[in-house]
Amino acid sequence: MSRHDHTRIRWGILSTGHIASVLTRDLALLPDEAAVVAVGSRSLAKAEQFAADYQIPRAYGSYAELAADPEIDVVYVASTHNDHLASARLCLEAGKAVLVEKPLTVSAAEAEDLITLAGSRGLFLMEALWTRTNPLLRRAAEAVEAGELGAIRHVTASFGFAFRGEKTHRLLDPDQAGGAILDLGVYPVHGVNLFLGEPDELYGFGTLASTGVESHAAALLTFPGTEFRPPATASIVCSLEADLPTRLEVQCSDGSVRLDNFLLPDEMTLVRGIGDHREEETLVTQWSGGGYTFEISEVNRCLRAGELESSLVPWRDTLAVARTLDRWLLSIFPPLDPEL
Ligand SMILES: NC(=O)c1ccc[n+]([C@@H]2O[C@H](COP(=O)([O-])OP(=O)(O)OC[C@H]3O[C@@H](n4cnc5c(N)ncnc54)[C@H](OP(=O)(O)O)[C@@H]3O)[C@@H](O)[C@H]2O)c1
Repeated sequence: MSRHDHTRIRWGILSTGHIASVLTRDLALLPDEAAVVAVGSRSLAKAEQFAADYQIPRAYGSYAELAADPEIDVVYVASTHNDHLASARLCLEAGKAVLVEKPLTVSAAEAEDLITLAGSRGLFLMEALWTRTNPLLRRAAEAVEAGELGAIRHVTASFGFAFRGEKTHRLLDPDQAGGAILDLGVYPVHGVNLFLGEPDELYGFGTLASTGVESHAAALLTFPGTEFRPPATASIVCSLEADLPTRLEVQCSDGSVRLDNFLLPDEMTLVRGIGDHREEETLVTQWSGGGYTFEISEVNRCLRAGELESSLVPWRDTLAVARTLDRWLLSIFPPLDPEL
């Protein structure tokens, strides 16, 4: 039993950017289970404006003041990637549970630090990989895991759009840990991880924007065989240069799964059988708002149950994905040879 059993979970919002607004609007759709009680920004004026926009009782002009608020159960860290580690650490050290936007941090070493801190303090921590809380994607994973479609052989996943914004935008800014891989590639890597786990080999490729960050990247991944399947493969692509389909497909020896718009799927096609013996089943789901209510409810559920991590986005998978992102980046930006 936890202290959150019978009350609404009290949320604090850290930062006032785009996704902070979207999630705050979705929190308002769950008034029986959650309440946003405070917002913190590097600027008091922005925090006050955000609080006025969303009827939030308290506004702070620093992240530290938000973290110190004793009337908050969980902080949603929605700052730019480069800030995730510092802000999440600040909140954990102040005794708060934390939901941190994707990617959890900018490297596997940082992710490990944060997870170790949460574990040692007995506090909840989750990477806000909302996609993994969607019922359709969960059903797809169950079907493959149960062997309903035969042995898994290959997964493809892609996400990208032709970005036409300013060079100073966070997506292209190296100082804000910009680039396609950490921002967009994290979704295909998580999508593949859900079905195949961590790759043993990664062969990556990428091209750079004029700011020096990668703006288009692809990789071929290989996975060792297990007791239940032979070795398998995956291919992933992300791009800030082209409108790629937001698609995830899982090819198995006796069927397949296809999710268009896999970040927020409302429809999934399960194909059972091959050739003339194929049977297609289409499954649908619905949500209200921006699609983040599944993730919010999962956080609330974990806090009520006293769980430190979500079984839908477990620390093990966040770490495996972080290591894969490291390797993908390393394949494009090899370290300088210290001998030279
Ligand atoms: N789950 C999803 O669907 C989804 C969608 C979009 C983005 N995201 C993730 O959410 C995070 C934020 O993305 P966003 O699109 O909301 O970005 P954004 O609109 O640029 O907002 C980011 C906020 O971060 C804060 N911040 C802290 N340190 C900063 C720094 N050094 N430079 C600039 N801003 C800084 C700022 O808030 P204050 O000025 O108030 O302090 C800023 O408003 C990213 O990690 C991204 O990957 C997730």
